[in-house]
Amino acid sequence: MRIVLFTGKGGVGKSTIAAGTAALTAAGGRRTLVLSTDAAHSLADALGAPAGSEPTEVSPGLFVQQVDAQLRFEQSWAEIQAYLLRVLDVAGVDPVAAEELAIIPGAEEVLALLELRAQALCGEWDVIIVDCAPTAETLRLLALPEALGWYMERVFPVERRIVKALGPVLSRAARMPMPEDSVFGAIERLHAELDEVHGLLTGPDASVRVVLTPESVVLAEARRSYTMLSLFGYRVDGVVVNRIFPEDGGDDWRAGWVLAQTDVLGQVCESFTGLPLWRSVYRTGEPIGVEALTQLAREVYADSDPLAVPSGSGPFRVIRTGPGAVLHLALPHVTRDQVDLARHGDELVVSVGSYRRLLTLPPGLSRHRVAGARMAEGELQVRFEEDTS
Ligand SMILES: Nc1ncnc2c1ncn2[C@@H]1O[C@H](COP(=O)(O)OP(=O)(O)OP(=O)(O)O)[C@@H](O)[C@H]1O
Ligand SMILES: [Mg+2]
Repeated sequence: MRIVLFTGKGGVGKSTIAAGTAALTAAGGRRTLVLSTDAAHSLADALGAPAGSEPTEVSPGLFVQQVDAQLRFEQSWAEIQAYLLRVLDVAGVDPVAAEELAIIPGAEEVLALLELRAQALCGEWDVIIVDCAPTAETLRLLALPEALGWYMERVFPVERRIVKALGPVLSRAARMPMPEDSVFGAIERLHAELDEVHGLLTGPDASVRVVLTPESVVLAEARRSYTMLSLFGYRVDGVVVNRIFPEDGGDDWRAGWVLAQTDVLGQVCESFTGLPLWRSVYRTGEPIGVEALTQLAREVYADSDPLAVPSGSGPFRVIRTGPGAVLHLALPHVTRDQVDLARHGDELVVSVGSYRRLLTLPPGLSRHRVAGARMAEGELQVRFEEDTS
C-alpha cells in the first residue's frame, strides 16, 4: 500500500493536486482513499461531492474521507483532558478557560492522523492520499513520541507505579487530584499509536510531495519545509509547481507574471535538484469535479507514474566504516553553522533553527563517541568512533 502526503503553503492547491492524484490512481484501477485532516471541507468541494467522516465512494474506486477531528479528539484525548480539567479546576482556573487550556494547539490535527493509521491497518486500500493542513507543523508534531521515547520507557512506568501505590496520599498532600491508572493507560496508548503513525509516514512506502506556486514567498516556505521534513525523517519525493501562467498571448500584465514566474521556476529547480518537478498550468477556471481533476493530474504527471516508489535510501541512514560509522541525515538548504548537535546516551539531538529532533541511535553506536560532523552534499554527516578510553 502506498501513502502519499501533500503539503504546502496555504492556498497553493494542495487539495486540488491531492484530489487530482487520487482521481488519477483510482482511474488506473487502484482502490484509493483521499483523506483530509483539515477542518475545512475543501477536499469535498474540489471533488464536488459530499464527504463524510467515513470513506465515501465518489467514483469507481475513489473514496473520500473528511476526518472528524473532534470525534477523534474525544476518543483519544478525553480521559487525559478530563484529568487536566480537574487539575486546572483545583488550581482555580475558570472552567471555560480551562477547556481552552486543556487543548494543545495542533493536537486536533495530529489526532486526526490517527485515522490514517486506522485506514492503513484495515487493508482496504491500495493507495492513501493525504491532504495536509497548510503547514507541515503537524508532521513535526508526529515526532513527539520519538522525542518522548526515553521518558516513556524509563520514567513513565515508574511514575505510574508510584502514583498507583501512593495516589490517595499524594492527592491529599499536594491538594491536587492524582491521575488514575486509566489516564496513564490513555497516555500510553496515544503515545504508541502516534509513534506508529510516524513510523508509517516515514516508512519505505510513504512519501511527501510539496506543492507550491512559482512565487518567491511561497518558495521560501517550501524550502524551509523541505529541510524540516527531512530532519524529521519524511521522504520528499517530488515537487508540484501549480498555477503556472501559460506563456502564449496576453497583455503586459500576463507577460510580467510569466517573466516573474520563469525566474522563480529556475530557483525551484535549484532548490529541489534531484527530485521530479511536476508542473500544473493556471487553468481558466477552477478544476472541480472528478473529471476535471483527473485531467489536471494526467497533465501534471504526464508520462511519469504518480505512485512511483521513491528511490534512494531516504533522509536517514547509518553506514558502517570498520569499527566506526557515519550517520547521514539529509538536511537540504542548511549550512553547518545552523546545526547544533548534542549527545545524550543513545540519542543524538539535532537542532536546526527552532526545530529539534531526537534521533535514537541504532544499537551498536551507543558506545561510540562523536568524532566529528560536517555538512556535505545537502547532508549532515556525523562520524562515530569506537570509544577506546
Ligand atoms: N491549476 C489551477 N488552475 C486554476 N485554479 C486552481 C488551480 N489549482 C488550484 N486552483 C484553485 O485554487 C483554489 C485553492 O486551491 P486548493 O483549495 O486546492 O488549495 P489548498 O492549498 O488546498 O488551500 P488550503 O491551504 O486552504 O487548504 C481553489 O479554488 C482551486 O480550485
Ligand atoms: Mg486544502
